[in-house]
Amino acid sequence: MKRIALMTSGGDAPGMNAAVRAVVRRAIYHNVEPFGIYAGYKGLMAGNLKKLSARDVSNVIQRGGTILKTSRAPEFETEVGRSRAVEQLRKFDIDGLIVIGGDGSLHGAQELERIWDGGIVGLPGTIDNDLSGTDFTIGYDTAVNTALEAIDKIRDTADSHDRYFVIEVMGRLAGFIALEVAIGGGAEYVLVPELDSDVEQLSLHLEDWEKRGKTSCIIVVAEGEQEGGAEGISKLLREHTKRDFRVVVLGHMQRGGVPTASDRVLATQLGSYAVDALCAGQTGVMAGIVNGHLTLTPFAQTWENKKPLDKYLLDIIPSLSV
Ligand code: F6P
Repeated sequence: MKRIALMTSGGDAPGMNAAVRAVVRRAIYHNVEPFGIYAGYKGLMAGNLKKLSARDVSNVIQRGGTILKTSRAPEFETEVGRSRAVEQLRKFDIDGLIVIGGDGSLHGAQELERIWDGGIVGLPGTIDNDLSGTDFTIGYDTAVNTALEAIDKIRDTADSHDRYFVIEVMGRLAGFIALEVAIGGGAEYVLVPELDSDVEQLSLHLEDWEKRGKTSCIIVVAEGEQEGGAEGISKLLREHTKRDFRVVVLGHMQRGGVPTASDRVLATQLGSYAVDALCAGQTGVMAGIVNGHLTLTPFAQTWENKKPLDKYLLDIIPSLSV
């Protein structure tokens, strides 16, 4: 392994910069030249690569976003796009590639690995936490804390005005953020894409809460919830209960900001480990931490083995909303 390239791809996630720093410096430690690819697969297809020095990644461990930029690249889903990417990797004499991103980015890595003779190792970089082969993805902890801070603030208004709030958090296909912030924020109810939404049952809960003296409530809804997220659910709730519900969509604020200590440490560990793995001849795998152990999981297993939501956390929410 003489030269490796690295990219951040898909949605940005806090901690990506800590991962970039770790990859660059660990590569230099192994006497491997690191190249940054700018703006993910889009940049790779365009040959937008630059050699990185240890100083290029100074003072970034604490920064949100990604200094390498990122993109969603539909063109890379075509054969033409992927062969363009291979041409560039050959042109720059790259032997190994590290892709930091979510499941779409790892799908791309798997396709690329089929037609390129270099090694590819992935890092789980997404706020969604929806990849198997790691207990937590880089960015998830920060996103949860960001959403939680917002919910705590909204709770002040809910309480002062005796209002009902439906708060939407990110997660098109997964309810990890929603469940975690619902528990951490003391929400009365949570709706996630993995489970059917039962608005009638929720309306009955509301009547029960009112009888028990509750005058406000927080309902957390994941973006990908089946009735259309917070807007869809609040419309149905208004029809069912004839009450007013205020909607707050937290949106992209959850992807930004200073990474938490957990995300920085996770990103640093996994970034270093990904380089070690590439140098040891590993390919087609994602680096992760499961039960405290560094692991490598074949790409396809990271999305085929669905990581389940914590059933106990789901179960206890109604009993804690009384
Ligand atoms: O994958 C991370 C994520 O933030 C999802 O939670 C969300 O559904 C999606 O990205 C939004 O993507 P974009 O910023 O491209 O609209």
